[in-house]
Amino acid sequence: MTSPRFARAANAAIGRIEATASLDTPSHAIETAMARPAQIAGRPAGRIGDALHGTRYGHPVHPMLVTIPIGTWTLAFGLDLLAALGARSNGAARAADIALKAGAAGAVAAAATGLADWQHTNGRDRRVGLVHALVNSTALGLTLASIGLRSRGRRREGRLASAAGWACMVVGGYLGGHMVYRRRIGVDHADRSPEPRDFAPVLPLAELEENRPRRVELRDENARQDIGIVLVRRGGRVHAMGARCSHLGGPLDQGWVLGNALVCPWHGSRYDLETGWPESGPSTCPQPRYETRLRDGIVEIRREQEPGDEIVTAADLPPVPRDAAPGGGRKADEVLTEHHQLIRRLFETIEATPRHQPERRDLMRTLASELEIHEHVEDHLFYPAVRPVSEDVAIAHSEHRQLADLLAMTLKLDTASPEFEEHLRALHAAVDHHAGSEERSMFREAQRLGEPRLRELGQALEAMIEQQRTSRFQRAFRDLKIRLLEGV
Ligand code: FES
Ligand SMILES: [Fe+2]
Ligand SMILES: [Fe+2]
Repeated sequence: MTSPRFARAANAAIGRIEATASLDTPSHAIETAMARPAQIAGRPAGRIGDALHGTRYGHPVHPMLVTIPIGTWTLAFGLDLLAALGARSNGAARAADIALKAGAAGAVAAAATGLADWQHTNGRDRRVGLVHALVNSTALGLTLASIGLRSRGRRREGRLASAAGWACMVVGGYLGGHMVYRRRIGVDHADRSPEPRDFAPVLPLAELEENRPRRVELRDENARQDIGIVLVRRGGRVHAMGARCSHLGGPLDQGWVLGNALVCPWHGSRYDLETGWPESGPSTCPQPRYETRLRDGIVEIRREQEPGDEIVTAADLPPVPRDAAPGGGRKADEVLTEHHQLIRRLFETIEATPRHQPERRDLMRTLASELEIHEHVEDHLFYPAVRPVSEDVAIAHSEHRQLADLLAMTLKLDTASPEFEEHLRALHAAVDHHAGSEERSMFREAQRLGEPRLRELGQALEAMIEQQRTSRFQRAFRDLKIRLLEGV
């Protein structure tokens, strides 16, 4: 058995809920009962719906409101527990009562927002959502009963009722978490590739009909995926936004233009053509936007960078002073690629050394040392320098951690053992993957920094590698670390 028993049991239970088709009939009835009055009321109901989804705030409201009952009911549960253990105090009892009431108010508001979001789910998500709502409603019912019992002086029964309510809330929270983190309900579904950073031709204008959304695709080589973009020609202008709806991934290119907005065919979110922001929900999140221009009758687009994007082009970087960029040295990517080769050769040498030869241990220490130096210079010099032009840095950092963990495991093993062989093979594959993806992607993106800067950086890298190898202090420190990892 590889997965923990609780996770397997919970997974199986949720799987059964997801497969229960009989939940669809009541779901449909509830949805229709909610939709009719809203259709009759028209615009005001739409505004209430938007407020419940969070369209106006750019964030779903439901996850914010659920924190109220979770916090307050847990506080009340803790105070009740202390009272049950003998720590009685009138102040604590009053505080528990207030917490339960505040939580109940929060739970009602959370239920309203949850219901508004739930009506747009489908299939297995809708079934889990219904059970999530039922369990949480039970929690609310038990809490209200507890409040009633406490007000009549039946505190003991009241405590039991709210404890049962708290347990239901935990189960409901688990189901809610499953819907968000596993089923991705409520998260942004738009494609947020930063490409293309420079204008790229996508379609002859003549092929774009007025008010007729049209899908085009571009390749994001780094992410190895195609990006879908929807173009809309309207009133002499061409607008472009991500084709995948941020709400649940609906195809906006199959939607329609209404006023100055593009409507999603799945649940009707209306995105402003100018800004990409939803004018009305259920979406709460703007679509990725693209600038457009016309060149020789061809529509060209460029991704509008979003707040927080670090991607810049070489033109945005401050120029490197002439004297700081000597023409001779090697570029940073060349220095690092050469170091990758050295590390690869070390792996090959260890693998070719017979198992029982003691040199294997020495070679392993040299490899550990070179890997450590490599990660050090990248983490301290190279990654910070390329961060503005490469999205790979965050992943590369995580991979360094992986490599360090795997190296630590390998160092602990007897170099003659089969486990060592297995770990060495895994470490070799991990290093190959990491170095290979740096060479294919990050080093290529680093070229945006411009040659003078890369040469300057290359020189600094070489100096740092040399200093790491020769400094007595650094060597002693590294050796000590390696010995500690070996467990000697
Ligand atoms: S997918 Fe739901 S509104 Fe677009
Ligand atoms: Fe690296
Ligand atoms: Fe590297």
